[in-house]
Amino acid sequence: MRMYDIILKKRNGGALTDGEIKYFISECVTGNIPDYQISALLMAIYFRGMNDAETSSLTINMANSGERADLSEISGIKVDKHSAGGVGDKTTLIIAPLAAACGVKVAKMSGRGLGHTGGTIDKLEAIPGFRTSVSKSEFIRNVNSIGVCIAGQTENLAPADKKLYALRDVTATVDNRSLIAASIMSKKLASGSDKILLDVKVGSGAFMKSYEDAKSLAECMIKIGKAAGKNTVAILSDMDAPLGNAIGNISEVYEAVRVLEGKGPQDLTEICIELAANMIYLAEIANNIESGREMAKNTLESGAALEKFYEMVRCQGGYLDEMGSWEKPKYSQYKAELFASESGYISSLLAQECG
Ligand code: URA
Repeated sequence: MRMYDIILKKRNGGALTDGEIKYFISECVTGNIPDYQISALLMAIYFRGMNDAETSSLTINMANSGERADLSEISGIKVDKHSAGGVGDKTTLIIAPLAAACGVKVAKMSGRGLGHTGGTIDKLEAIPGFRTSVSKSEFIRNVNSIGVCIAGQTENLAPADKKLYALRDVTATVDNRSLIAASIMSKKLASGSDKILLDVKVGSGAFMKSYEDAKSLAECMIKIGKAAGKNTVAILSDMDAPLGNAIGNISEVYEAVRVLEGKGPQDLTEICIELAANMIYLAEIANNIESGREMAKNTLESGAALEKFYEMVRCQGGYLDEMGSWEKPKYSQYKAELFASESGYISSLLAQECG
């Protein structure tokens, strides 16, 4: 098999076979295909698309490109959550401790920024001392003892995605349904959780700009999850404007703490309650989403989720002055004040430009 022929076939609109996709992914991981050929295939996929069978084959081959995490030492139902990428999306920082405070086992592997969207790992690393690189045994120990750990994906978890993710980021090939679905679902399948909650963003700041495209991405990922035997649920959420009021790593951590203190912006608080409710329901801690919602709201109001957040930060070596006594500028590396040149109202914000 030759990479040239695979690129040519896709460039001409052909459907790749499982054998061709398997060859591409395995050679890609062993470093036998130069970046220019991988990028060329990505661009061909971007323009020509992939059918369901190709997308599913790409996902499975990417999930199998490294080791699959074994979380069987963690008791209970492990629920993973993944966002399809947004601007100001700091929901994981809030819902991971919130769901854990409600009794969900949150064994979360997160990624870095992609395109104009931010990544949870970059945000957490803005906390002084916070370690996102933890060993497997520490990861399992933390989830078993405090209910939550958020770590970067290990080198060997879906390494094909690492390679493709980095190249898509610099070749303008991110916003393609099959590439996004395979990227997200390969990591979710490899990371060993029992159930998967997807937050598919839609709007000007999302990779999927229209409702139809976002719905189609969500359906594609649900199909892949179900075929792999994982109960997969997706919600579609608005990304026309940035989520909350803050963008940028430490600013987003600050805003996440404000939500956990019960003083955060309404849009962000609402979506966090909704996501946490779904996680609580999927973990079979609540009988339905409505009681999951109640549980999430009460836990947020009680301060237990905030406490869990600080517990997680301490457990992973991070340091923050606690209980809202810290002010954002304290931890910011660069600071500048910008003043509006005239007065007026903000009627809309271009999320992608902000990102
Ligand atoms: N998040 C991912 O992990 N991959 C994508 O391609 C987009 C969002």
